[in-house]
This record gives sequence, structure tokens and C-alpha cells, in this order.
Amino acid sequence: MNEFVYWNPVKWIFGKDTVTQLRENVASFGENVLLVYGGGSIKKSGLYDLVLEELAGFNITELAGVEPNPRLSTVKRGAELCRENDVSFVLAVGGGSVIDCAKAVAAAAKFDGDPWDFITKKEAVEDALPLGTILTHAATASEMNAGSVITNWDKNEKLGWGSPFVYPKFSICDPQWTLTVPRDQTTYGVVDMMTHMLEQYFHNAEQTDVQDRLIEGTLKTLVEKAPALMNDLQDEKLRETVMFAGTIGLNGMLQMGYRGDWATHNIEHAVSAVYDIPHGGGLAILFPNWMKHNLNTKPERFKQLAVRVFDVNPEGKSDKETGLEGIEALQNFWTSIEAPARLADYNIDDSRIEEMADKTLFNGPFGNFAKLDREDVIAILRASL
Ligand code: NZQ
Ligand code: ZN
Repeated sequence: MNEFVYWNPVKWIFGKDTVTQLRENVASFGENVLLVYGGGSIKKSGLYDLVLEELAGFNITELAGVEPNPRLSTVKRGAELCRENDVSFVLAVGGGSVIDCAKAVAAAAKFDGDPWDFITKKEAVEDALPLGTILTHAATASEMNAGSVITNWDKNEKLGWGSPFVYPKFSICDPQWTLTVPRDQTTYGVVDMMTHMLEQYFHNAEQTDVQDRLIEGTLKTLVEKAPALMNDLQDEKLRETVMFAGTIGLNGMLQMGYRGDWATHNIEHAVSAVYDIPHGGGLAILFPNWMKHNLNTKPERFKQLAVRVFDVNPEGKSDKETGLEGIEALQNFWTSIEAPARLADYNIDDSRIEEMADKTLFNGPFGNFAKLDREDVIAILRASL
């Protein structure tokens, strides 16, 4: 392991009917609240009314219509609303996109200049409005980390950024508000959280036996529970398990003492920046191809995953053969829960592969388990067609 400091200041409020704790948690942050939400799912589910009831007496300004793959233009609109209405607290109610947007708004409201400058890391974030979240979709773990991903459609760029100033002060995670997540989004959420665990699993540190088992155990649980959830999207117990898994998937807990690979996330963001596809859908296509491309880097790591998570029998096989069976098992599992397997499923052909590859190289060759250059990225994208 490498030395590490683990610090996560998010107050994680988990379980049924916990939205009743909203008022007391917002109270110390002033009266002017910016309520950030997406395309209307919270109105249909009834959560919007409940939030307004909880916040009776507060001055609420709304930033509605945050897009999946949230846009810089929406962030700017939100920051404007904060300034005009002297907002003291930002409340995100929704999935990862809403939360990511709220984080960027909270930072932009205190930033003198174009928020794209801190998203591209040209400038540092030095302050942000306090924010909190109510999560409605288990996937990104944005509710319990300091990251955010924003798309700039003027430049066709989708970039991740982060700052300790945008850790939510609290996140309310009540699985009952995820019951309305549609079938396809449920799949994307499971793929996204599994990919977070897998990105972290592929690293070059040693002595990570406990972390390995934590990741393997969480992945195995999802392999067991996700198909059951697909059979009954209304099962609150399964929604609870998946919600818990999603948050620990990327709240830093599984990545103590090493840095995961994270190359596939970079490639997916480039694909989404050009084609605006759902993040989890892109990962389901790309990650198995990243694995195949890097199988030779450390076949024993792929074998361990195959044996421990997918029960592949290694007898009489090389590490590489066992590893490959594991990759196929992962791909088959994702197909079984209706995830896409090819870029063609989103009508993506080879016409813009080079452009996407260039975008991934924004900061030069990347990937912590295996370094990828332009040729590697093109090969992975081609294999994904
Ligand atoms: O907009 P509404 O109407 O709310 O509908 C959303 C949206 O259409 C819907 N939805 C969410 N909760 C629902 C619901 N529909 C019915 N009932 C509910 N309870 O689901 C759709 C997708 O929502 P979105 O927030 O876009 O999904 P997700 O949570 O997967 O977030 C994806 C974004 O997060 C970024 C991705 O790149 C992408 O932009 N990521 C953020 C990360 C982070 N901050 O740490 C890490 C991730 O790896 C990821 O890159
Ligand atoms: Zn992700």
C-alpha cells in the first residue's frame, strides 16, 4: 500500500423516510436555498412536494431541467441565480447529473470568472456555497465524493474536476425514492458502480488484500442482486442494497492506499462528449475491451477477479485464459441485465474515433494500471464498435 489520508466529511444519512431530516440539516446554512433538480422525475414521484413541505418558510429559488450529462450553460445559469437571490445553500435533488451540476454551481457562485476555467483546472476553486443532496438514483457516488463531471457543448468536451470545497455537507439516501428509476437507468447505474469498483481494482500497489476482498465482495453482491432487481424494479430491499453499493463504490473507501486505473472513465467521457450517450451505457461497452487490451499487463490480477467474483474454474488453464473467461463472464453478466455491448447500439461508427481519442489525451497518456497512448485508445474504441 502507499501511505494515505482518508478524509470524507459528508454526513451520510441513509434509510427509509430520512427526508424528514432535511429541515434540521439545512437549518444552519441560512434561509435562501437554491433547489436543483432534473427533468421532472422528482415531480412525478412526489419527492418535490415533500421537499417543499420540509423546507416551508425557506426562500426557495429553483434551477430545474438539469440535463443528464449536465451542461456548462446550466451551471452558469445556476450561478447567476445564486448571485441574484443571495443564495446561502444549494440543495441537489436527483441523480449524479443533478448533484454534479449543483457542485459546479456552488463553486461558480463564489468564483470570479468563467467556471470552465476551474473545470479545466486552469484556475483553482478557493470557496463554494455549502451544498447538500437527496439522491434519487444509485450510480455515481457523487453524493459522497468531491467530484463532478460537466459537459461544454461549445467545445464538445466532457471533463471531470473536483475540490474539497464541494463535498456535500450531507446526503440523504432513501431507497424508496429510487423505486421509480426506469429499467434502462437502473442498468446503467449498476454498470457504473461496478465499473468504479473495477477501475479501482486494477492498480499496481501491493498488500491490498483487504481492499481486494471489499471490492470483490461488493461486486459479487451486485452480480447476485442486480438480476433480481431487474425482475422486480419495485423491490425496496434490493434498491437499498444497490444504493448502498453505489455510494461505497466511489466515496474513497475502496481506494485507500492506491490509485485505480480510471482510463475507461476518461475514454467514456470523450465518447459522451461527442455523442451524448448515457455514462453507464458507454462503460458497459468500453470496460471489457479495456480489459482485453490490458490482459497481458498482469494476467494474475484478471485471474483473481475471474475466480473470486465470477467463480471461473482455473484448473488446467493459464492465468490469461482464466482472466479472459472472467472478462467474458462480466460481459455476459452486463448483457443479461440489458446493458449495451457495442458502440453500434448507439449508432456510433468509426467516423469520429480519432477525434474521441484526441480528447482522451487532454492531459497526455493516461491510466494508472496501464498507460494508454493514442494508438491504444484507438484500438480500444475500434474493438468496441
Ligand atoms: O432528470 P430527471 O427527470 O431527474 O431524470 C433522470 C435522468 O433522466 C432519471 N432519474 C434519476 N432519478 C430518477 C430518475 N427517473 C425516475 N426516478 C428517479 N428516482 O435518470 C436519468 C439519468 O440521471 P443522471 O443523473 O444523468 O444519471 P447518473 O446518476 O448516472 O449520473 C450520470 C452523470 O454523472 C457523471 C456521469 O459522467 C454523468 O454525467 N459521473 C459523475 C461522477 C462523480 N461525480 O463522482 C462519477 C461518475 O463516474 C460519472 O462520470
Ligand atoms: Zn462512472
